[in-house]
Amino acid sequence: MAANEKSLSRRRFLAKSGLATAAAPLLPLSMVANDSLSSKEDTSFEFVFMTDIHIKPEMNAPLGFQMAIDKTNALKPDFVITGGDLVYDVMRGNFEKSDGLFKLYADMAKGFQMPVYNCIGNHDLFAIYEESPEDASHPDYKYGMWQRYFGDTYYAFDHKGWHFITLNSLDVTDNKRYKGSFHAEQLSWLQKHLQTIDTEKPIVVTTHIPMLCTFSQLNGKEGTRTVSNAYEVFDIFKDHNLKLVLQGHIHWKEYGFVNDRVHFLTGGSIAGNGWKGRRHHTKEGFMKIKVSGNDFSWEYIDHGWEAQRLKMGIGKE
Ligand SMILES: [Fe+2]
Repeated sequence: MAANEKSLSRRRFLAKSGLATAAAPLLPLSMVANDSLSSKEDTSFEFVFMTDIHIKPEMNAPLGFQMAIDKTNALKPDFVITGGDLVYDVMRGNFEKSDGLFKLYADMAKGFQMPVYNCIGNHDLFAIYEESPEDASHPDYKYGMWQRYFGDTYYAFDHKGWHFITLNSLDVTDNKRYKGSFHAEQLSWLQKHLQTIDTEKPIVVTTHIPMLCTFSQLNGKEGTRTVSNAYEVFDIFKDHNLKLVLQGHIHWKEYGFVNDRVHFLTGGSIAGNGWKGRRHHTKEGFMKIKVSGNDFSWEYIDHGWEAQRLKMGIGKE
């Protein structure tokens, strides 16, 4: 736990050292995700869930990410949770290029005027592919580069009566591909960690690879896009108040509610289809989530990137 606290303060330091930008009024919420919104104003707060940023120097990606940062600052949420694939990409190495991408992300993320809690995605796994010039002997291999910049790949924090857990949903296969899986060490941490959390306390889990989604039903030929052992995590949470699962990876916007209990939200993406347009018809954007008492509502925010890229002659609506 001490290591987690250390990395949390590092993440907060990175996030808080940014520069100021202009503020704008809050937008009205358009979607209500639960049946009874509480009127407890003292516990209400907002946060942003922003996923699949895929930062790189090309394709005007820094301009698009900066627009998302500026929009977030204007909305003034209490904090930002990212959903992984912060960079594009480091799976093939080499060190210099990969380190430059993480540095670009870390430098730009200093522009957020609130804490940022990062999540690891498949494109953030350093040198895992066969074609990479580096291998498992490199200190930054797999999770290493991400950890050097942002700390532990799984951790938890509290905010105004809610509990937030970011998980690492990635591992590597024997034939050097990434896979969606929660490794055993993390599952045993989660089990022990939950023993310290009140069973009534609302919990939000963030995972890059979805735990629940309809992708494979709609796109069967492309295979599954979910974590293979997600059921183990749901089992660990069975006596706790797992309220919401935030997910990335497929650049897809989806909301679901299972058995009057668990909500899941797949948060679209900042990069869309490789910065060239929409992916799966989902416009580039991010989620703003408003928590009131024990309930929450959400809204997908357009930070203006689509209009900007169309103006520059890139892609279509
Ligand atoms: Fe992605």
